[in-house]
Amino acid sequence: MTRGRPLRVLYAASECAPWVKTGGLADVTAALPAALAALGVDVRVCLPAYRAVRKEVGPAPIRAVLLGADIREAELPSGVKVYLVDAPWFFDREGGPYQDAEGRDWFDNPERFGFFSRVCALLASEDSPLSWRPDILHGHDWQVGLAPAFLRLERTAPALSIQTIHNLAFQGVFASDYVSVLHLPPQAYAVEGVEFYGQLSFLKGGLHFADALTTVSPTYAREIQGDACGFGLQGLLRHRRASLSGIVNGIDDVTWNPETDPLIAAPYGRDRLADKRLNKAALQRQFGLPEEADRPVFGVVSRFAWQKGLDLVVDIAERLVAVPAQLIVLGCGDPALEAAVKDLVRRYPQAIAARIGFDEATAHAIEAGADCFLMPSRFEPCGLNQMYSQRYGTPPIAHATGGLADTITDEGAGVIDKTTGFLFREATASALWAAIARALSWYERPEPWHRIMKNAMSRDFGWTQSATRYRDLYEELLRPVRGPQGVRDDQ
Ligand code: ADP
Ligand code: GLC
Repeated sequence: MTRGRPLRVLYAASECAPWVKTGGLADVTAALPAALAALGVDVRVCLPAYRAVRKEVGPAPIRAVLLGADIREAELPSGVKVYLVDAPWFFDREGGPYQDAEGRDWFDNPERFGFFSRVCALLASEDSPLSWRPDILHGHDWQVGLAPAFLRLERTAPALSIQTIHNLAFQGVFASDYVSVLHLPPQAYAVEGVEFYGQLSFLKGGLHFADALTTVSPTYAREIQGDACGFGLQGLLRHRRASLSGIVNGIDDVTWNPETDPLIAAPYGRDRLADKRLNKAALQRQFGLPEEADRPVFGVVSRFAWQKGLDLVVDIAERLVAVPAQLIVLGCGDPALEAAVKDLVRRYPQAIAARIGFDEATAHAIEAGADCFLMPSRFEPCGLNQMYSQRYGTPPIAHATGGLADTITDEGAGVIDKTTGFLFREATASALWAAIARALSWYERPEPWHRIMKNAMSRDFGWTQSATRYRDLYEELLRPVRGPQGVRDDQ
């Protein structure tokens, strides 16, 4: 390495498991920096010091004071260092990271995450009070989208920046008044900047100003350049396609390992498949369903949102019951979907059970105990559950979109040499049902079914490969450029 010291990356995100989690971003923040550190990258995470985080971490030393916020230093369970942005007036409250206990967005989210973005940019420049300065600021999702704008327009000797898109449906779009409220440089508010149809878009700031863009699967990287998945940003993404890459997520294969998982009833593995049955029985018991070993059990663990296509599961539920099969659902979110699921449970108490809520242990129990996992997402940037379910020998049945298409192998009619799950092309109830019927036709025959389970369990979804790609991207970005055109010296 020509710089004579390890590459330094400030990894800025609004969630990190196990401290604060609403979805897959938290899992990625917990695992990717640890995998990068194992590859020799000096990576530190920057995270808001929400009340929940402060409770978990306890007293953490203050390393600097910045714009009135204490910058505290803590450590993740993996040993990765974390800078906590302790601004109690923004982050020390009861409730979630984005919403209050009633599920309403915090009224001051633009100020909260505008502030967080500004702090991240400061820490990634010569203006930082810390002696540790990153070479690259790697920001995730809209909550840090303004950081590349602040970096580029305001900071001295700024680090290079990368914006990663975990979900283009969430963009952080607010009234244009916030341009002055957040003290954004006025020139930032332009079509070639943070302006988005007369409003301020945090994510567009990242997509316009960052030096490189990534998203969490190659298929999603293609899909977001089109009208169906671009959510209005497809033009900009097409324009920047040379700087955009898709790197599929890994999974934490220590937490999600059926051989050692303390959250499941009985450990099992590829060579001890029989013990998976004990988990099925335990799951049926936990959910109060008849303990029938031969009855196929379909599992769902999901945010209840339009994205996830849970309504398609509701549409085919009756047909599942008629198989006869059982359906077990864990999740929460959209009240209409919660009501629809509760209604199914009322109508078919012997076949359908649900837990409305967020519960890590039950998520593990479903991955281990179900026979198949349903994931009919309309779009899915990457998705983690389909990887967990393959690891647990619970073949996923999923819409062929985004990361689902990239991480599930389905050889189609009649062939299962390498098949690990079942994909369908159209996000419709009938296509979902056709895939379920295909899965059931294999399930009835133990030998090929075990083959599919073993294929799935043999897949390596660990982080090393993806982390290596991120490290290569960092190195590539930092390679010295030659001449005013910025032609790289290796070209
Ligand atoms: P997304 O981030 O879009 O929700 P992912 O599949 O990437 O989708 O990640 C979802 C993560 O959240 C997984 O770790 C999954 O197990 C977890 N999860 C989702 N809903 C629940 C729930 N109700 N209870 C426990 N874990 C959940
Ligand atoms: C988002 C996406 C999901 C992805 C996760 C982590 O929440 O919806 O598909 O797996 O981010 O990248």
